[in-house]
Amino acid sequence: MRTAIQNLPASRIREVANAGLGRSDVLAFWFGESDEVTPLPVREAAAKSLLDGETFYSHNLGLPELRTAIAGYASGLHGAVDVDRIAVTSSGVTALMIAMQMLADAGDEVVAVVPVWPNLTAQPAILGARVTRVPLRPHGGVWQLDLAELLAAVTSQTRVLLVNAPNNPTGWTLTRAEQQAILDHCRRTGTWIIADEVYERIYFGGAASAPSFLDIASDEDRLIVVGSFSKSFLMTGWRLGWMALPRGHLDAAGKLLEFNSSCAPVFVQRGGLAALAGADATVAPLVQRLRACRDRLVSGLARLPGVAVASPPGGLYAFFQVEGRTDSLAFAKSLVTDHGLGLAPGLAFGPEGEGWLRWCFASREPERLDAGLVRLAGALGL
Ligand SMILES: Cc1ncc(COP(=O)(O)O)c(C=O)c1O
Repeated sequence: MRTAIQNLPASRIREVANAGLGRSDVLAFWFGESDEVTPLPVREAAAKSLLDGETFYSHNLGLPELRTAIAGYASGLHGAVDVDRIAVTSSGVTALMIAMQMLADAGDEVVAVVPVWPNLTAQPAILGARVTRVPLRPHGGVWQLDLAELLAAVTSQTRVLLVNAPNNPTGWTLTRAEQQAILDHCRRTGTWIIADEVYERIYFGGAASAPSFLDIASDEDRLIVVGSFSKSFLMTGWRLGWMALPRGHLDAAGKLLEFNSSCAPVFVQRGGLAALAGADATVAPLVQRLRACRDRLVSGLARLPGVAVASPPGGLYAFFQVEGRTDSLAFAKSLVTDHGLGLAPGLAFGPEGEGWLRWCFASREPERLDAGLVRLAGALGL
């Protein structure tokens, strides 16, 4: 076994979830998904595809009609994105891995903005790249980027800058000015940007999408933007995503896709087509429901003495601190075993998240959030 693989940390969220294994009374908010089922037209399209016998291998880069639909969807949000830049992948995480495989050799430096979903930093580590962590920092509970610190960390030696915004777990979202400064800087240093924008639509700032690098980059910039059907279309279990590449890089992505999944299942892609056709009907109401969940949870948390929380501008999570609880893994485990409340420990997202807890507020029954708050209050002796 390669040392890089042996050294990969096991998931801390799983570690907490395992503490509640086999218990049906646990209110679980630890994973990053809604408990709402995928919209019916999407499920019907996939079922029809299966009934029609679409059970065969397909294009490495995805069905041409789905690639066209994704290009149209992205263009509607961000200005023209040509179909010759779009590859369909079996999930956002696969798109991120393929992007990293395209760019990072063993020994290369990858700079990552953290805390972040651990898969993002594990991927370059698997390839033997060196990950330099640039921390967001909380100011009054609101996580912020020190732009000067990030730009100083990205040099001509930096192969890839990895940035996830809206960010899992903090909700931190890049401003347009920060994005422009990062893009300008990476143009100077020759650094690639991998932008994980899977939460772009889960944005509470009023616009249809959080600021995207696609809004400002040219089609020749060293930029790979990753999108996903998981969060915006309630399709986490389908495993469908995409990547937008610079012009001229599609063939390389196609080769790697062949050696990874070969292609996304056709019936899943038919579901993706239906999701995009119904995007207007699905996404805005979903974001409205999520906003209500966020506001309900954050105000409930803020009412608890000793809890520090800020309202996240994007994403599915409240990331918060409880006074005196500095060991997030031990605290999250005790919440499960003693109080039946399932939260993710901040440590799961790197040492920068230690002392914090992540609560996924995407719930079709907002009363579940209230029930969870009652359990947290009980755990705090309130
Ligand atoms: C920041 C981030 N990126 C990417 C993903 C991957 O999404 P998927 O593989 O379901 O498309 C997730 C899922 O939780 C995530 O939180």
